[in-house]
Amino acid sequence: MFQINTNYQKLPGSYLFSTIAKKVNAYSAANPDKKIIRLGIGDVTQPIAPAIIEALHKAVDEMGHAETFHGYAPDLGYDFLRKAIAQNDYRDRGCDISEDEIFVSDGAKSDSANIQELFAADSKIAVCDPVYPVYVDSNVMAGRTGTYDPKTEIWSDVIYMPCTADNHFVPEFPKETPDLIYLCLPNNPTGTTLTKDKLQEWVDYANRVGAVIIYDGAYEAYISEENVAHSVYECDGAKTCAIELKSFSKNAGFTGVRLGYAVVPKELKCGGVSLRDMWARRHGTKFNGAPYIVQRAGEAVYSPEGKAQLKEQVAYYMKNAAAIKEGLKDAGYTVFGGVNAPYIWLKTPEGMTSWDFFDYLLEQANVVGTPGSGFGPSGEGYFRLTAFGTYENTLAALERIKKL
Ligand code: MLT
Repeated sequence: MFQINTNYQKLPGSYLFSTIAKKVNAYSAANPDKKIIRLGIGDVTQPIAPAIIEALHKAVDEMGHAETFHGYAPDLGYDFLRKAIAQNDYRDRGCDISEDEIFVSDGAKSDSANIQELFAADSKIAVCDPVYPVYVDSNVMAGRTGTYDPKTEIWSDVIYMPCTADNHFVPEFPKETPDLIYLCLPNNPTGTTLTKDKLQEWVDYANRVGAVIIYDGAYEAYISEENVAHSVYECDGAKTCAIELKSFSKNAGFTGVRLGYAVVPKELKCGGVSLRDMWARRHGTKFNGAPYIVQRAGEAVYSPEGKAQLKEQVAYYMKNAAAIKEGLKDAGYTVFGGVNAPYIWLKTPEGMTSWDFFDYLLEQANVVGTPGSGFGPSGEGYFRLTAFGTYENTLAALERIKKL
C-alpha cells in the first residue's frame, strides 16, 4: 500500500493567498452589489509593455514555420536570454556572473519552493519574520520544520528572525546557527530592505558559519535608494555562499506569463560538490523551463524600448505606493515600506488582529488587503496593501478607508 508524504498534513489550512481568495469570493457571492477593490495579492494590473508584446507576436509566428519552429527549450534556458540576463542584471552592475550560472525557470515562486531540494533533509532554516510564506511552506513539505503550534503559529524547528518596527525591520543574526538563510530583499511583505553594508555583514556571516543565503530579489526593480544593493553578488564573497532568485512578474508584468531565473554560482560548493552542477541536473530532469515564446518576451525586457517602458510601469506602481502611504498617514495609520518596494505595511488599529482588520476592511470598505500574520508570527498586528492596483482603484480604496 502506498504511503503519503505526511508532512503535507502538517500545513495549516490553505496557502495564504488561496485562503484570502476563498474569503473574498464568499463575501462577493453574498454581496453581489458591492464593488470590491483588490489590494491583497501582489498581482500586477498594467498590461504587458508594447516592446514585449511585439517580441511575443514575433515568436508565436516563428513557431508556425518549420524553419523557425522550436521544440523543447534547452535545460538551462536559451542562450539569448541567459546572455541578456548576465549582461544587464549582473555584469553592468559589476557582478561577475556568467551565463552558465543562470538557470531560466517558470518563475521565482517555483524556484523559491524547489531550491530547498539541494540541501540535506535535516538542514536548519532561518527566515525573516514576517516573510513570503512559500519558503516555510516548502520546507514544511520537505519535513524540516518540526511541529506547528497553532496558538503561537510557530514551527518548532524554524529559526525566526523577527523584523518589526522595534528593530526597523532589520533581522539580527540568529542565536542558533542556520544552514539556510532566506532573505527576501526588498522584503515582501514589509517593503523594507537592507543597506549594502548590512547585506555585506550577512554575506560575511554566512561564509563564517558555513550557511547558504537563498536571496529572493523579486522586487529589485523597485529599489529607489542609492545605498541598497540590486543583487547579493554586489557583496564580496557572495559567490561562495549565496543563490539568487529573480522574477519577471513584478518588474515586467509576467505574473500570468511566468518567467524567472535562479543564479547558482560555480564557487558554491559543499565538500567539493558543486551546487551549480546539482541544480543543472535538476533542470534537465524536472524540466523547470519556460517556453521559447516566453523566453523571447524575457529578452525584450532588456531591449532599450523594453527598459524604458518598464521603467514607466515601475514608476506607475510607485506612484500608487506613495499615494497609499500618504493617504493612510492622513487617516492616522502608522505605515512602513513603499519606498523600495510596491508594498505598504501598516499597523492594525489598537485591539484588532490582522485577520480582524482584514474582515473589517472587506466588510466596511470592500477593500481587500493581506493580514500580516499570514507572513509569520511577527506579522501579527500588521497588514499589507499592495501598490499593484490601478491608480484609480488605489485612490478609490483610500477614500473608502479614510471614511471608516
Ligand atoms: C504576494 O502577493 O506576496 C505574492 O507575490 C503572491 C504569490 O506569489 O504567491
